[in-house]
Amino acid sequence: TKKVILDCDPGHDDAISIILAASNISDLKIEAITTVAGNVEVEKNTQNTLKVCDMIGLTDVPVAQGVERPLVKEREIAEEIHGDTGLDGPDLPEIPTKQAIDQHGVDLIIEKVLNAGDDITLVPTGPLTNIALAMIKEPKIIPKIKEIVLMGGGTFGNWTPAAEFNIYVDAEAANVVFNSGVPISMFALDVTHQAIATDEIIEQLSNIDNATAHFVVELLVFFKKTYKEVFGFSGPPIHDACTVAYLLDPSIFKCQHVRVDVETKGEFSYGMTVVDKLKTTGKDPNVHFAYELNFDKFWDLMTKALQSYQTQ
Ligand code: BDR
Ligand code: CA
Repeated sequence: TKKVILDCDPGHDDAISIILAASNISDLKIEAITTVAGNVEVEKNTQNTLKVCDMIGLTDVPVAQGVERPLVKEREIAEEIHGDTGLDGPDLPEIPTKQAIDQHGVDLIIEKVLNAGDDITLVPTGPLTNIALAMIKEPKIIPKIKEIVLMGGGTFGNWTPAAEFNIYVDAEAANVVFNSGVPISMFALDVTHQAIATDEIIEQLSNIDNATAHFVVELLVFFKKTYKEVFGFSGPPIHDACTVAYLLDPSIFKCQHVRVDVETKGEFSYGMTVVDKLKTTGKDPNVHFAYELNFDKFWDLMTKALQSYQTQ
């Protein structure tokens, strides 16, 4: 069993990532879920997390709200991709039953990592503000974090030509994390754009008869619409779920161990992740960069995960 903390901003693909992690085929122990400002304001991301937990019966995992804005920059959100609520599409209750705990998300991360035996993996699928702040507030956690398995970055961008959304929103935070010395596995656009929910896949998932699978299909239908409108894609990439898929079955991915630095100054390249594929810097690698995904294995895993939810 691997212990994980999911740090997220649900977000359609964040929600699917939580659902994969909490499924009955998963051997992950979710120690906590923390939320961060990203796709929408942190309060909305927290409400969405709680609603997802309600939906899948995840009652025993603490949810704590984290930081409401990036370290340095103004806040920026991605409503055109995820809708006003951050989780538009499915019909969700106004108010979740589950409540967030009183503790701040950053403090919960610190507490969990300090009290664990060097075996907690952090899984950030939003901007890296909470993780950076936790490292700054309590540096003793840094050598204790087993690994960071994150979604972010790429050798091209989706928010600017150079930068992916999660890294662009808080490149200063990303810079802290990428230079922390903690082993990082990175699921960037290069690989997440291979995790496409095609029409055939959506059809396949819609044949699974339980409430969680129906919910995921509703998420995918909305996500498909915005990805078509904004990027002209025929199917949406399920970016964030690549992190959890990797933890459940690393053989789905091919990775290269490389040096990655985060641009925090460039006029056109702010938030870019600079991937040293050909080892031009001579710097030690800091990232396992996933560059290839086995499509069939990825969707088999997702299908089995959704089938593992009880029929309701
Ligand atoms: C990332 O940005 C968000 O919109 C998604 O949830 C994902 O984490 C993709 O660039
Ligand atoms: Ca996300």
